[in-house]
Order: sequence, then C-alpha cells, then structure tokens
Amino acid sequence: MRLHSNPASPFGRKVKVLAIETGVFDQLEVHQVQTTPVGPDPSLVADNPLAKIPCLVLADGFALYDSRVICEYLDTLHGGPRMFPPEGPARWAALQLQSLADGITDAALLARYESFLRPEPQRWPAWIDGQLDKVTRGLDRIEAVEASSFGERLDIGVITVACAVGYLDFRFPGMAWRTTRPALAMWYDQFATRPSMLATKPPG
Ligand code: BEZ
Repeated sequence: MRLHSNPASPFGRKVKVLAIETGVFDQLEVHQVQTTPVGPDPSLVADNPLAKIPCLVLADGFALYDSRVICEYLDTLHGGPRMFPPEGPARWAALQLQSLADGITDAALLARYESFLRPEPQRWPAWIDGQLDKVTRGLDRIEAVEASSFGERLDIGVITVACAVGYLDFRFPGMAWRTTRPALAMWYDQFATRPSMLATKPPG
C-alpha cells in the first residue's frame, strides 16, 4: 500500500503512529509529497481530488482518505488490540477524543497557513486568533475532563491527542501550552517517548 504523506504533517504522523503501534507499518510504502492549498501535488491529486495528505492507496488502486478512514482501515489488518474500540461507551469516547484532537490540529494548521502561506498584506490577525482560541479551548477541555485518566491508554483518541500536541510543539514552540495543563503535559511527555512517536517525530 502506498501512503502519500509528509514528515511535517500531523495527520500523516497519526496514520504512521497507528501503523507502527499495530504492526502494519511494514505494509506501507511511504511516498513523500509537498502539497498546500495553493500548490497541490499532481501525483496526489490523481489519488485524492482534495489534494490532501494523508492518502492511502490500496493494492487494487482504491484510495482512502482522510486520516480517520485510513486509521480505521489499518486497524482491521492486524490481530492485536483494536485502536478503534468496536462498540459501546469506549468506542464513542475514543471517537469523540479523536474529533476533539483532530479539531485542534485543523485549527493549528489553519493558523499556520494564515501566518506562513498567505502573503503578508492579506493576512488576517483576527482569523489567526480565532483558530488559536479553538486550540486553547480544546486543550483546556482535554485537561479538564480527560488527561488525568489517560494513564497507559492506547487507542485512536490518545494517538490523535499526541499528534495534535506534537504539532503544537513543532510549529508553535512559543505557545507554552504545558503551563496551565499539567496533567496533559505529564501524560504527553511520557507518551512522546514511545518508539512510534520517536520514529515519526517531525524534522528540525
Ligand atoms: C507543516 O509544514 O506544518 C505541514 C506540512 C505538511 C502538512 C501539514 C503541515
């Protein structure tokens, strides 16, 4: 299977972390692409008309996107513990946490694009603030109702949180999100030492 991704992509990292944790990473051939909303990679567009990464092309040519669909697919390929709990409250808790953390990442990416991709005269500070407010509220919610119970939990919810927070450390190093979120910080700094996280750490 061919995975279109980029070492800096937090959603690509999420797929890779899940693939490593479940033992299916060896089945992936990672194809590095450079794509942005204003510069779509043609080889990616051929597989994903949205020109977004990650995109997983199966052996028969069928292409899966986005990270949620890819992760859920990869989770069907192994015989170990499921990263997507199959049913009941654990499933909805994992999916809810995935949505919250994906939303944090989406907002961080939009703020990043506005700051670094959009030409300076066209930048809109209130838009950046609005996106970063989403990041703040999302992290606060995780700290308030989730982080202290993460412990050794390993599912799609906590993998997504780790990749969201990892992206903040990577692209927003001055954010100091740990200061007011000690439970999340303590959990993440431990989770970040997992081989899957170390192997997928963004460059630089
Ligand atoms: C980044 O450089 O921040 C980035 C690269 C690819 C996808 C998303 C983000």
